[in-house]
Amino acid sequence: MPVDAILGLQWGDEGKGKIVDFLADKYQAVCRFQGGPNAGHTLWIHGKKFVLHTLPSGVFRTNTLNLIGNGVVIDPTTLVKELDMLDQVIPDLKDRLYLSQKAHLILPTHRWIDLASEVSKGKNKIGSTLRGIGPCYMDKTGRNGLRIGDLLSPDFKQDYFNLKEKHLQFLKLFPETEFPIEAEETKWFESIEQIRSLQLCAGEFWVNQLLSKNANVLAEGAQGTMLDVDFGTYPYVTSSNTIAAGICTGLGIAPKSIRKIIGIAKAYCTRVGSGPFPSELLNETGERLRKEGNEFGSTTGRPRRCGWLDLVQLHYSCMINGVSDLCITKLDVLNAFEEIKWVDSYTLKNNLTTEEWPFDLQQIKQVNESGVNGWLQSLENCKSPDQLPEQVKSFIKILEKKSGIPLSYLSTGPGREELICF
Ligand code: GDP
Ligand code: IMO
Ligand code: MG
Repeated sequence: MPVDAILGLQWGDEGKGKIVDFLADKYQAVCRFQGGPNAGHTLWIHGKKFVLHTLPSGVFRTNTLNLIGNGVVIDPTTLVKELDMLDQVIPDLKDRLYLSQKAHLILPTHRWIDLASEVSKGKNKIGSTLRGIGPCYMDKTGRNGLRIGDLLSPDFKQDYFNLKEKHLQFLKLFPETEFPIEAEETKWFESIEQIRSLQLCAGEFWVNQLLSKNANVLAEGAQGTMLDVDFGTYPYVTSSNTIAAGICTGLGIAPKSIRKIIGIAKAYCTRVGSGPFPSELLNETGERLRKEGNEFGSTTGRPRRCGWLDLVQLHYSCMINGVSDLCITKLDVLNAFEEIKWVDSYTLKNNLTTEEWPFDLQQIKQVNESGVNGWLQSLENCKSPDQLPEQVKSFIKILEKKSGIPLSYLSTGPGREELICF
């Protein structure tokens, strides 16, 4: 009856989608527990690329059910677009897809507020994906939101217009922004009609019933630990709990049902959007990581900021999440680097050196790096740990020691099978 989880240990885009897709056929269900269409999870299936924003990454596994949990915020327009994209590719998708009645709905005006709020922040903007995530979660915690289950209420349209009116009043507080509200609203209501025909369920009963029948369930996180609203680089974060704690509130399961926490980290670091990033490389090496790693956002196409792996940050994330299994992705991106570096401590403005993630990241005066020689070869033919070059083995040892977690998976390419299991 266990739940295993896959979640990001850095600033998102660690390759969660690929790993969920790889592991999904061992599970009866894959359940997304938080976030919304700010996520972009990339899957390569038979040489074809698919980017999922709201759908769980288990959809390509024919024997796996998929739940969009109560912790997720759903934009009907984006969800319907995703369903349309997959209509021909996965004919039975709608039979295997369930939506929690308690998941909140992103309204067009949530996206408008997101935009107005970012514009008003000027150079201090969060760098939001502008998908309406923050304003939707604000309505959830402010107890104003509309949920998937409300779609079946005869009062739904009136409730929508009441909330929209509140939003229009709120928007008056911001400098004027242009937003094609009428066109967006038309698309939104068309999509709502399609969503009504999906399998809407009490997600918490659905998942607990599966668990009581001894099913294995895989929880899929979005974003990453450093974007968590409590433990991330606040205020430059998203608006949900991306960490392990979010699994329980985002699905309605008890902590005792969680078995493994599989934490995903890249072999280096990236961040898209604004905010602190201690190991960021604003030089040629950073450019090279971006180029070799094709580091451009899966949702917005923005260039991702790049830097070396930060072991202070990784250790913090492993602690917060109680990571039991570590997965390192995109190791192949480092194949051509003569030297591979990582950050192992920070020197603060008071001249003290620390290996602990500080509250005020502005206090970091210098990041202290160490390195090993690169392996300077392709990893294409490495299918098991013993086939890895010695330099990779040394890098892994350091990583395991510093994070305190044994490596379970090493990803050496975007494809489903480009993965070494330890
Ligand atoms: P997610 O949001 O965590 O699912 O990650 P994204 O899909 O946003 O970004 C990860 C990117 O890296 C995608 O383009 C993946 O296809 C790609 N990717 C995943 N694992 C690997 C890997 O091991 N090597 C390489 N080169 N690319 C990878
Ligand atoms: P996946 O699931 C990377 C970032 C945005 C911005 C901040 C707040 O693909 O890893 P929001 O739209 O939530 O208001 O944005 O969080 N962000 C992500 N960065 N991967 C993601 O998701 C992200 N989702 C949000 O760039 O800095
Ligand atoms: Mg992504």
